[in-house]
Amino acid sequence: MGAIAATVGSAVGLGNIWRFPYEAGVHGGGAFLLVYVACVLLMGIPVIVAEFVIGRSTHKNVRGALRELAPRHKLHWFSYVCILASLMIISFYSVVCGWIVEYLQLSVRGLLHGHTPAEYEQMFADFVQNPWRCVLWTLLFLALNYVVLRRGLKRGIERVSNVLMPLLAVLLVVFCVNGLTLPGAERGVRFLFTPDFSQITPRVAIGAMGQAFFSLSLGLSCLLTYASYFKDSDSLVRNATIVGVLDTVVAILAGLMIFPAVFSYGMRPEAGPKLIFEVLPAIFEQMPGGPVWAVLLFALLFVASITSTISMSEISIAFFSEEWGMSRNRASILNTGIAMVLGTLCALSFGVLSEATVFGMTLFELFDYVSSNVLLPVGGIFFSLLVGWVLDRGLVRDQLTNHGTRTVRVMRPLVFCLRYVAPAAIVVIFLYGLLWR
Ligand code: PHE
Repeated sequence: MGAIAATVGSAVGLGNIWRFPYEAGVHGGGAFLLVYVACVLLMGIPVIVAEFVIGRSTHKNVRGALRELAPRHKLHWFSYVCILASLMIISFYSVVCGWIVEYLQLSVRGLLHGHTPAEYEQMFADFVQNPWRCVLWTLLFLALNYVVLRRGLKRGIERVSNVLMPLLAVLLVVFCVNGLTLPGAERGVRFLFTPDFSQITPRVAIGAMGQAFFSLSLGLSCLLTYASYFKDSDSLVRNATIVGVLDTVVAILAGLMIFPAVFSYGMRPEAGPKLIFEVLPAIFEQMPGGPVWAVLLFALLFVASITSTISMSEISIAFFSEEWGMSRNRASILNTGIAMVLGTLCALSFGVLSEATVFGMTLFELFDYVSSNVLLPVGGIFFSLLVGWVLDRGLVRDQLTNHGTRTVRVMRPLVFCLRYVAPAAIVVIFLYGLLWR
């Protein structure tokens, strides 16, 4: 129960509540959701199982696991890809966590109240262009993340989050019900659930695949590490399904919270990363007891985001300490230091560094795009091929059936998916995206 709750804690985070609505908004709503769900089913859940098999059979971190499972193949170089991805993600993710902290303090001070939607848009624009405030909150968040890692408060945070995550889900349902009663809400529901097939373009497919990997914390050995703590009696297939389904439900709830309001207030669904920070304050404004809901929601989002940043930090900390022989404290300092430098640059991407672009993207956008849409799916190919082709069939069967004590009805389709469907689908989406941009 503890290990699976921690895994869900890693998966459910700003990816579901901040990134899913913004990506769905940019990529046409229903078309995006359709491809997203297909990606979760065909690649997401199978690759989660693959990471689980590797993690639980070795009880090691990614590098140790690869050395043990495939000693002749020198595959442990792949751990560098995982570390690169985790450092890129924590750098831009902590900026958004900083935005959450800003909005939490604004709501506690009662300042997220009494304005029009246009004023809230301006408020966010002023905030992200202010170099000091954004950087300050990002650094503060990372410092807090360090304290949690350093002090071994992880267990405590996980215990707290076991109670608070279900509460977040309840809160999302309240917001959805509220959203559905808004005038014109049905247009938002239609936007999210009615796919316009002509909108399924290469960009949408790549975006949805990247979002699925990002939201499931998949492809960078994060789930592998969690699974190394699973018990031998845990069912890997069942746990993977729980993570995949819960994570998707939370994302859809977030969509149902945001889009009815977007259409009802005449806002733009394609606003990008700032979407929820403009829409949520407008929602609180219209709800009875709005300021209280605001504090509650941002506080819970804060908890959801720190359980995710802990899990991403763990990847490089385990590597620095186990492979380079650093103490855990030093490893945490190194991880935090790198994240602070890169995070500062990402935080400035909306203000003074907004002109500093690579391939037309700011550093924030570049890290977001490259990690989610390229590195994590590459990780997906790696882990699915490894479990589908390289690992001993008997070992995989033992892991899936817990040494023959469980019957797994989906065994054949699952292995088929890992061998062919998931890697081929990822490659097809990559090629489709590169060749038909
Ligand atoms: N899945 C997390 C979220 O949805 C983000 C994350 C990505 C966490 C990669 C760990 C590793 O917020």
